[in-house]
Amino acid sequence: MPILEQCYNLMDFEAVARNVMKKTAWAYYSSGADDEITMRENHTAFHKIWFRPRILVDVEKIDFSTTMLGTKVDIPFYVTATALGKLGNPEGEVIFTKAAKKHNVVQMIPTLASCSFDEIMDAAQGDQVQWMQLYVNKDREITKKIVQHAEKRGCKGLFITVDAPQLGRREKDMRSKFTDVGSNVQSGAQTDNSQGAARAISSFIDPALSWKDIPWFQSITKMPIILKGVQRVEDVIRAIEAGVQGVVLSNHGGRQLDFARSGIEVLAEVMPVLRERGWENRIEIYIDGGVRRATDIIKALCLGAKGVGIGRPFLYAMSAYGLPGVDRAMQLLKDEMEMNMRLIGCSSVDQLNPTLVDTRGLSTH
Ligand code: FNR
Repeated sequence: MPILEQCYNLMDFEAVARNVMKKTAWAYYSSGADDEITMRENHTAFHKIWFRPRILVDVEKIDFSTTMLGTKVDIPFYVTATALGKLGNPEGEVIFTKAAKKHNVVQMIPTLASCSFDEIMDAAQGDQVQWMQLYVNKDREITKKIVQHAEKRGCKGLFITVDAPQLGRREKDMRSKFTDVGSNVQSGAQTDNSQGAARAISSFIDPALSWKDIPWFQSITKMPIILKGVQRVEDVIRAIEAGVQGVVLSNHGGRQLDFARSGIEVLAEVMPVLRERGWENRIEIYIDGGVRRATDIIKALCLGAKGVGIGRPFLYAMSAYGLPGVDRAMQLLKDEMEMNMRLIGCSSVDQLNPTLVDTRGLSTH
């Protein structure tokens, strides 16, 4: 196994993790839905966007801090929700909590975390900000309790996952015949381990969730509400009309609908429509899926995203090297960010704008 210092980018962690992880854990983390076309596209879509850098700008000092839902962060990414952290490391999600604190970024806590919600909240230090990812239970009383508990414990955002009325078929995961789920499975769940880890723990999720439920969420919490898994401009407009504070343009890391488009591609379609209506400041737009380089983050911000979520790379870094791995992965992104901001000719994120990218390679340019 290479030593940690030999990991020079986020992809390097994946190669190491693949060799050291248990087969079932690797299958759960790395799988995508069906033919994994969307999962691959999430990564390659970024390769269709090129830079149009500025020259002769003073870039001696670079500041890539920003705010997300009112929280000041050092760099425009957050650790997105990924279930079952203990499959990769016995400490589980609290590793992300500690790394997020060190790098001053936000962690989104998954409903299906391996650690309990309170353990993860307790691992936070000082005024560290955490968000909550919610899978909505068929039993709304359970959901209400979870949401209100999260708010009481100080969570600063409620990310409702809207792209998973049924879990996608992740065949790699299904084949690995999962047995040891080790999550705080919610009541109402019937586990069927022959269908892989994901399906074993997700049967409580309500497929009847609809736009009609949004006012109910708004009535039970004062946390900002963000819809995670939006995939078309019509739904972004509807989200704005429904009065939610944000959307994540996401296809769940390619684990749900195969042939869903990548978040970056959808972003390129969404922002011009919002700008035309003068609505670009009415909502915060995030994307996730396939973000592996600071240049990916910069491209998303140029196109109008407030920030990006990163999932698998941190799971792999944690599985391969524990906390030092996640720490290094985040530091690599910061180093890449500083260099690439300089090379594109921008000293702060408010200077990032659509003229700095050539999106003609995208189908929605
Ligand atoms: C996820 N994702 C996810 N999303 C969510 O809303 N609730 C969840 O429980 C999970 N669990 C989960 C587990 C694993 C192993 C992965 C890889 C992903 C989706 C996640 O939040 C995010 O949308 C993607 O991971 C982003 O893509 P990348 O960064 O993994 O390419």
